[in-house]
Amino acid sequence: MNSGKKEKILFVDDEENILEVIREYFEFKGYIVVTARNGREAVKILENEKIDCCFTDINMPEMDGIQLSEYILKTDNTIPVVIMTGKPTIDYTIKTIKYGAVDFLVKPFNLNDMELCIERVLNQRELLIENILLKKEVEGKKRLEELTKQLQNKVDDLRILNKIISEFAEIGSTKDVFKRLVDMATEISLADMSIFYVINESVGKPFETAACPKSSGAEIDQTSFERLLMNISADSIPFLVSENMGVEGLSGDMLSFMCVPLVIREKAFGVLTAYVTCGEVRFSEKDLYYLSFMTQNAAQAIENLALYENIYENLFATLYGFVSVLDARDSYTQLHSNRVTDISTTIGTELGCTSEELDILNVAGRLHDIGKIGVRDEILLKPGKLTNEEFEKIKEHPLIGANIIKNLGFWDREINIIKCHHERFDGNGYPDGIKGKDIPMLSRILSVADVYDALASDRPYRTRMDEKSILKYLQEGAGTQFDPEIVEVFLKLYNQGKIIK
Ligand SMILES: [Fe+2]
Repeated sequence: MNSGKKEKILFVDDEENILEVIREYFEFKGYIVVTARNGREAVKILENEKIDCCFTDINMPEMDGIQLSEYILKTDNTIPVVIMTGKPTIDYTIKTIKYGAVDFLVKPFNLNDMELCIERVLNQRELLIENILLKKEVEGKKRLEELTKQLQNKVDDLRILNKIISEFAEIGSTKDVFKRLVDMATEISLADMSIFYVINESVGKPFETAACPKSSGAEIDQTSFERLLMNISADSIPFLVSENMGVEGLSGDMLSFMCVPLVIREKAFGVLTAYVTCGEVRFSEKDLYYLSFMTQNAAQAIENLALYENIYENLFATLYGFVSVLDARDSYTQLHSNRVTDISTTIGTELGCTSEELDILNVAGRLHDIGKIGVRDEILLKPGKLTNEEFEKIKEHPLIGANIIKNLGFWDREINIIKCHHERFDGNGYPDGIKGKDIPMLSRILSVADVYDALASDRPYRTRMDEKSILKYLQEGAGTQFDPEIVEVFLKLYNQGKIIK
């Protein structure tokens, strides 16, 4: 007797004598033998015992071999089923295979063949079980990898969101917000370029304030692109074109594009854009989410800075930053603004202005031409004489400038000074045509300083005027273009060498 084997084999046959022979033989061979006289009995055994292999006759009362085979396949497909049959027709063969039988024994069989068959199917079973376990392990590993990946993504998400929050929390000045926005947008979304545009109804078109990498300073000249940005800003809904297949407003070299609005105090302030011009990177909803999160944090940072920190300096820095950008287009503006401010405060001091008035002059002087950001380059930088239509456009800049500042809700007193800096003493100026002392005094001062510096500088359409002619021009304009008292004070200061060009 071979006592090494302990597999439990179930034999099912309605012929008692066959079962007896089989039991005797296989018990002798060391197997544990269980027998049943039909399918029903076999099922009962299978419900209660762990069986390693089942041999079954086909034709039996109550429940036949095929039904039993089907039952085993459903409940435990690791148990091999061998069919013992006297008439193995093709029909039967197909049916039994379909129901999970792994082998056949044709009756009458000798016990030796049966033993070989048992060894074979048990071996196969072992392999099958190993396979199943292996598969489970692989599946488990896969699932674990998936979970790890999901977790990693969540951690990445949180890391990026935290980074955005902390970056904006650290910013100490409003003017840095825009630069930080474009830097982060490029870094996080892997964009080739990110640009922030201020969109303000007064400016009339998107105005670039920050870019990463540093922009060439080229103006967007596609009106359809401008319109797209303005619509996105007006709707305040983030916009994603993952794969640009010819979206209206986008140029062909923008392969993937995102644009999210920046809303401050429920008002659209501008848009953050990012795009890809080469390579494989394409933006996803997730990138759009990150950009939106950035603009929300930026808006929060701007509001916080405005509320709790030095409102005046921060916003002034932002606006003055716009003047610097304007200076990049028209190199005259910023230096001109600084000189006009110096000359105006010199005149103001001589006229006995209070320190509060001098402060107003200081802000208004530096920002008086900010409205020029709303004037197109082809007009602003045009060499030669402007057409009437073009001049009308230029004439809008005092009002545009006043509106930009008005929208921010600060510097009420400065707004009017900026608005009136092109009014003339005789009422022929713009935008309102007011005259004489109706024009605020500080605007009348600004007007003299502005014209003096403009004539003393080279402009795209003419070279600078000589000093003598400028003084003559100012004298002749006293009482018509300028307030004569202010011209008088100016000339006095000029002769004293206090007006420094
Ligand atoms: Fe001006």
